[in-house]
Amino acid sequence: MNNSKAKIIAVANQKGGVAKTTSVINIGAGLALKGKKVLLVDTDNQSHLSRFLGYDGTDGKPTISELVWQTVSKVQKPVSEAIRKSELGVDYIPSNFMLAGIISILGTDSDSTGVFSRLFSDGTFDEYDYIIIDCPPTLDLLVSNALKACDKVLIPVQSDFWAYEGVDQILATLQRAKQTSDIKPYVLGMLVTMYNKRTNSARAIMDAMNESYGEYVFENSR
Ligand SMILES: Nc1ncnc2c1ncn2[C@@H]1O[C@H](COP(=O)(O)OP(=O)(O)OP(=O)(O)O)[C@@H](O)[C@H]1O
Ligand SMILES: [Mg+2]
Repeated sequence: MNNSKAKIIAVANQKGGVAKTTSVINIGAGLALKGKKVLLVDTDNQSHLSRFLGYDGTDGKPTISELVWQTVSKVQKPVSEAIRKSELGVDYIPSNFMLAGIISILGTDSDSTGVFSRLFSDGTFDEYDYIIIDCPPTLDLLVSNALKACDKVLIPVQSDFWAYEGVDQILATLQRAKQTSDIKPYVLGMLVTMYNKRTNSARAIMDAMNESYGEYVFENSR
């Protein structure tokens, strides 16, 4: 668990296109509107979050890739250089295509799933109320790092069968990351997304979600 005062929320689901990035943006903007200091972290080499926030890759400043590299290599450089401001009222750390190669660098660390925990324990992050990590649609080392470093995980689940079927896998990955079978303290909730209650299939998935994971499913997504 991270000791900084910022609450770290990982938004994760290995299924693609379930509204992880959309949720990160909207929750981040909502918290900022409430006066909270928010940092969004893009850990997906697709960089959708970064680009939405205005990043075009030309400012020459470090990205999450460099921060991971310098944490693994124990290079002392201020992490603040990687933090940008956005018009949405949130700060962010962008990703870029280099992140695809960072997985192998993570793999060289003796604590390969604990690199984000070390990174986010830097005092620079103490000024934030919330750090929200937008995870890639994978269950790789980057996601294991995000799940280990976070205080809570938010799992968007699109109301379709394949997304529902994958929920057990992410919960199992969370168990491994937190090294406990009791993951309840770490699950912020499951947000059923793109739910069209007029379709039988969406209603069936919602029923299955409530039956399997009822305690975790956000009521306002029903
Ligand atoms: N409530 C919604 N209604 C309709 N479309 C939506 C809704 N939420 C998200 N979308 C759209 O669904 C698509 C996928 O959303 P998003 O990029 O947030 O998902 P993601 O889980 O981050 O995807 P990836 O796994 O590729 O990172 C986007 O085109 C987004 O605009
Ligand atoms: Mg995304």
